[in-house]
This record gives sequence, structure tokens and C-alpha cells, in this order.
Amino acid sequence: MHQQPSTMRAAIRFLLLFVAALAVLAWGASALFNRQAMVWAERDMGLRARLLASSAEPSLRDATGASARRLLDAMVRDERLMGAALCHPNGRPEVASNGFPATLGCASLPGEALRAGDAGWDRAISGPSGASHLTVIPLGADTAKPRLLLLVHDMSFVDRRADTTIQYTFIAFALVGLLGAAAATVVARLSWLSWTEQLRKVLLAPFRAMDAVAPRLFQPLLSDVRGLVTTLAVEEAGAETGWNPERLQQVLRRQLGGEGILVVANREPYVHERDGRGGLRVVHPASGLVTALEPVMRACSGTWIAHGSGSGDFDAVDASDHVRVPPDRPIYDLRRLRLSSEEEQGYYYGFSNEGLWPLCHMAHTRPEFRSRDWEQYQRVNRRFADAVADEASSPDPIVLVQDYHFALLPRYLRARLPRATILTFWHIPWPNAERFGVCPWERELLDGLLGSSIVGFHTQAHCNNFMESVDRYLEARLDRERHSVVQGGRETLVRAYPISIDWPSRYAEGTAPAAECHAAVRRELGIPEDALLGVGVDRLDYTKGIEERFLAVERLLERWPTYRGRFWFVQIAAPSRVIIEAYRTLNERVEALAHRINERFGRDGWRPIILERSHHEPPAIFRMYRAADLCYVSSLHDGMNLVAKEFVAARDDLRGVLVLSRFTGAARELSEALIVNPYDIDSAAAALADALAMPEDEQEERMRAMRSLVSELNVYRWAGKMLLDATRTRRRERLASRLSVGKGPGG
Ligand code: F6P
Repeated sequence: MHQQPSTMRAAIRFLLLFVAALAVLAWGASALFNRQAMVWAERDMGLRARLLASSAEPSLRDATGASARRLLDAMVRDERLMGAALCHPNGRPEVASNGFPATLGCASLPGEALRAGDAGWDRAISGPSGASHLTVIPLGADTAKPRLLLLVHDMSFVDRRADTTIQYTFIAFALVGLLGAAAATVVARLSWLSWTEQLRKVLLAPFRAMDAVAPRLFQPLLSDVRGLVTTLAVEEAGAETGWNPERLQQVLRRQLGGEGILVVANREPYVHERDGRGGLRVVHPASGLVTALEPVMRACSGTWIAHGSGSGDFDAVDASDHVRVPPDRPIYDLRRLRLSSEEEQGYYYGFSNEGLWPLCHMAHTRPEFRSRDWEQYQRVNRRFADAVADEASSPDPIVLVQDYHFALLPRYLRARLPRATILTFWHIPWPNAERFGVCPWERELLDGLLGSSIVGFHTQAHCNNFMESVDRYLEARLDRERHSVVQGGRETLVRAYPISIDWPSRYAEGTAPAAECHAAVRRELGIPEDALLGVGVDRLDYTKGIEERFLAVERLLERWPTYRGRFWFVQIAAPSRVIIEAYRTLNERVEALAHRINERFGRDGWRPIILERSHHEPPAIFRMYRAADLCYVSSLHDGMNLVAKEFVAARDDLRGVLVLSRFTGAARELSEALIVNPYDIDSAAAALADALAMPEDEQEERMRAMRSLVSELNVYRWAGKMLLDATRTRRRERLASRLSVGKGPGG
């Protein structure tokens, strides 16, 4: 039968250990046996010597000189006796047999041998030809001063026997070992076959009858297998019938026992700001991450851990820095972390936004990496990991780590909670390996992320870039078939999960119909009822291509003068990261550009660009989407861009045209948008002109296709797919650990 390499390795390791244990046992047994054999041999030699002495005593007692010598020579004819000698009572030599070993004579007897008395004295000694035995026996014990008879026996036969014993012991143990191993293998193989047969019976039984068929031993395994099957079934059903909050809840209930999830994100979903009159107001931050994750948390519940960045954030929390949100209908917990200004500067502004943000976006802003920022980044990642460990109510929580602010957190968390399921989602692009290598701490960041169970990106291209970076900078094994990285025996899946928005969008549902928005927004802006309106909605960020967007509007007005006086472009630009120099200068440039274009074309109160540099709450933004004839998303580089999807969600009237940069993740899905290269100002202007002139039926056709896609690929699917992958990983790990525990040597 074909054996897996790891099974072979385990079998070889087992055999080597078995052989080593047998060798140690054989060695110990023969040592013990030899010692005992020596004791017995000494005793036998002593008895033998005394027997010889007592039979020789009558003749030897009074013999002296030549007659004594003859008697002694006669005694040593015995093959074991090497020599015999007679000594005077004081130990002076008297006579010795032929060939008596000179070194063992009367003169060398120890005092105790001379004083031994009637019982005599004997000892194993090392003689000239190996192990010997010396016995000293008084002759004529009844006399006052008996002469002493010395008998030297050859004991070298004991060593020879010991060698033979060792050989036989080793052979015996080897035979026993071989027979034992063969018997164990046969028994293990038979039990394995019967175990496999039983397992097959259980797995082939109808789903409901499984419990009845399965022996108790299989029950835990069975529940894991059943979970895995349900996961697949739920996933299949999800793919067919669409994802929504209920299905996501179902996944959590069925697959994760209803366990709440822990989200870690720098940005919080609700910010409390002091209103200047002693009260607090709640602000929804402009963040794609919040747009996507907040509905997921509403569906799943749990705890969102974030930096408490609002001026009134800590007036709203309880003693443990928690507040229930959403404020109007609390469903989940928001845990706020206080950061010192030094931490915020180094971790958020410095390393995250002056280092990683420009590193990952191709928008021609040079990344800045400073050691002091790196120190704060590590420190804050550790603090957040501690907070997650605090919030976890089990040793294996599900943790969703969000974005580039927390590349190190998965590794820190893995050390604290080894059994946690950590899903890390990187909301921005991942650059190619060469560019990523610009970061002085590229290895630490990669290693940190590989603490995750799954690392997710918006697109397969970003996954590939990540795998290449791991390949280039870390010692790790890439499994390109499974799209995973194996490091230190632990696997991290690398997967594309294109993020999205909730569907149906609660903000779209809460917004007035398009016709109403159309009229109301034009009224508020002070522009004619029939004005053509374009809209852009972004954080004021250099990756968003806002300058290129204005230049495209300018070119439109140059080349299609018919739109002069008829077309307005409203840019909602939420101030962002304003203490960073690159953002400050961008603010100034955007303002100056809008001013220049307005000066150039403005006439009779018409000014083509309306720049609103302030935070807008979602309802105001959705009204603007519904009122517009086109929405232009001109990002120079963007992980996904949810403004594009929100615009589509808002247009339930099937009107309006989306003009979309090809450098966004969204462009890969929304192919019915007018896809442009924002750097190509002429083509972008032509796309704006096409959008403004597009017949209604074409608008409808395109919008319908995009709405169908976003409704299917919504944020519940994004979260559901990740959680299903996570549950599958969890179950596989559990199953594998159970199988390895139950695995017999033959398996
Ligand atoms: O694009 C990644 C992202 O995290 C978005 O989700 C979010 O809009 C932005 O970056 C973060 O902005 P901020 O620094 O204001 O949290």
C-alpha cells in the first residue's frame, strides 16, 4: 500500500527508538547477569578452595621442604588451580608449587588475610593472566599459630562466559524485538482495517442514521465531519440563493455555535465628538472599511476594538471603555483604546500612513520609514493584541484583523491565543515584491501577517504579489495549489475576497426617491432644475486622483463647449490625515485647481466645480448619488473603492452613469461602468462626454447589470466566504489532530 512520506518518517522514527530501547535493555540485562555470575563464581571458587584445602590438610599439615613442594605440585594439576603455596604464620614464604605467580606470594598478603583466623580469607583479584581468585586457609586451625595455605584459582573463564552471555542476550533481545514488532504490526494493521471499515460504514450511512451506527469512539470525529459537510452545503446554498444578514447569522450559528466575533480595526464605526454645547454628537467616519464591516457586525454581533479618536469618545464609554452601538439600536460592543499622541503620531500618521500607505499605492508619493515610527507601530500592535486577548471569551475566538495598521498583530496574538482563528484582511493593494522590499522591516511585516489563519486581499493579483514577497524575503514553503504559505508547521491561506457593501443598502432604503433628490439637491446647490450634475465622493487623499478628475472636467469643457453653463461637478472631499505634509499640500493644490478652472470657465454665476471640503454623513452622500447624472471615481490606485458600489446601490431608478478608473479593484467587477485611465485626461474627458450623452435605455441596461452583480457579491458574501473558509480551517485542524491521536503504527 502507498505510504505517505510523513507516515514513513514516523514509522522509521518509531523503529529506531524501539531498537535503541531494546539495545539499552539488552546491555543492562547482560551487565546485571554478569555481575551476578561473578558473585556466584567467587563463591564457588572459595568453596572449591576450602574443599581442596581440607582434603590436602592431613598430608600437608606436617610436610615441609621437598615433600611439601611435591604435595603442592600434585594439587595444582587441577586445571583451574594456578598455584598453591605455604606460608609461615607471620606471612614469611615457606614453599610454593611450580609456577606459583610471584606477585601473589606470601609476602604480598594484606594484613587482614594474615589475621583472618579459622574462617580463612578470599578475594577476586587481577592476576598475571587475567581474573583470578586467591584463598588463604589456615592449616591446623587447632594449633596456636597455624601455617597458611594459599590457593590461586584461574577465573578468566568468567570473562569468557560474560562475552558469550552478552552475545546471546543481544541475539535474544533482537529476536524478541523482531517478533514483537511483527506481531504489533499485524495487530495494528488488523485493527486499522476494522477501524477504517467501521468508519466507512458510518460515513456511508444516511446522514440521520449516522449516530446510531457510530461507536462512541467515533462521535467527536463524526461531529467534525458533519460540520465540514454542513459548511460545504451552506456555502453551496449561499452561492445559489445569495447572501444576506440572515444567511450570515445562520453560518455563525451553525458553524461557530453562535459565537460573537472580534473585529480589530484602527477606525471605529461611530465617533463621538463634543458639540461645543456640552453635548455629544455621533459621526460616521468616511471609511470604506467601516462601510463594509459595520453591516457585518450588525448581523454577527461581538466586539469591535478600535482607536478611540473622537473628542468625546471617552465621555461615552463605561468604566471598561466599552459602548454599545449602533447608538439608536445597540447590537454589538465597541471597545475603545486610548492612544497617546506619541503613539498616534508614530503608529497611525507615521508608519501606517507615511510609510505603508504610499508603499502599497502606486500614486508617486515617496514612502517615509522612520525607526521611531516603527517602534510605535510595534508597541500599538502589541497593545491591540492585548486588548483582543482581554476581550476573548474562549481560547479559540474568531478574530477579524483589519488593514495595514495591524500587520504585526496576528503574530503577537498567535503567541497569546495559539488556537485563535485569525482572519486578516488587507484593504489596500499589495505591491510587487521588489517594491515591497523598500520597507526596511519587510520580513517582520510578512512574518507578522503569517500569524493569521487566513490573509485576505481584494484581488488575486494582490494575493500573488503577497506570495511572491513571502517567497523572496522569508524562509517559508509556498503551496501554490492550495494558495497557502506554510511556516513553522503552520499553514496560512492566502485568498482573494473582493469586499463590497450591504445589500439592500440601508442608506439607499432611507433616501428619498431619485426624482425628489434630483430636485432637492439642485435647489440646495442653487443650480437650475435641468442642470447636468457629476459627483465625486472621497477622502481628500492623493491616491484618489482628484486633480486628474478636475483636469478631465476642464478638458470636457474645452472640447465640448456645449456643456459650458450646463454641467456642474460636485466634489465631496472629506478632510483626511491633515497633519501629514503630503495631504496638506494636496488640499492646497486641489483648492487652487478648482479655483483656476472656475476662473477660467465661470460666467453668469455658473462655476463648473463645486468643492465641498467637509465631512458629509451617509444620508447626504446618498442623496447626492441619487441626484447625479454621473459619478466619476478616478483613483490612481485603489484596493477596491466602495464609492463605485455605493453609487450603484443608490440608483434604484436605473439611471446615472459610473465612470470608473481601471486602477480600482471595483473595475474588475463593474465592467458595465465606463472604464478609464485617469492619467489619460483626453480619454477620461471623452468618457464624461459619453456619460452625459448616454441614452436612457443604455444607462438602464448598464445599471441593471451592475446592480445585479453588487447585490449578489455583497458584503455578507464577503464575510460569509471568509468565515466559511475559517470554519473549514478550524474543523480540518481539529479533525487532523483527532486522526493523528487515533492513528495506529500501521496507519
Ligand atoms: O482603503 C483602506 C482604508 O482603510 C479604507 O477602508 C479607509 O477608507 C481608509 O483606508 C482609512 O482611512 P483612515 O485613515 O481615515 O481610517
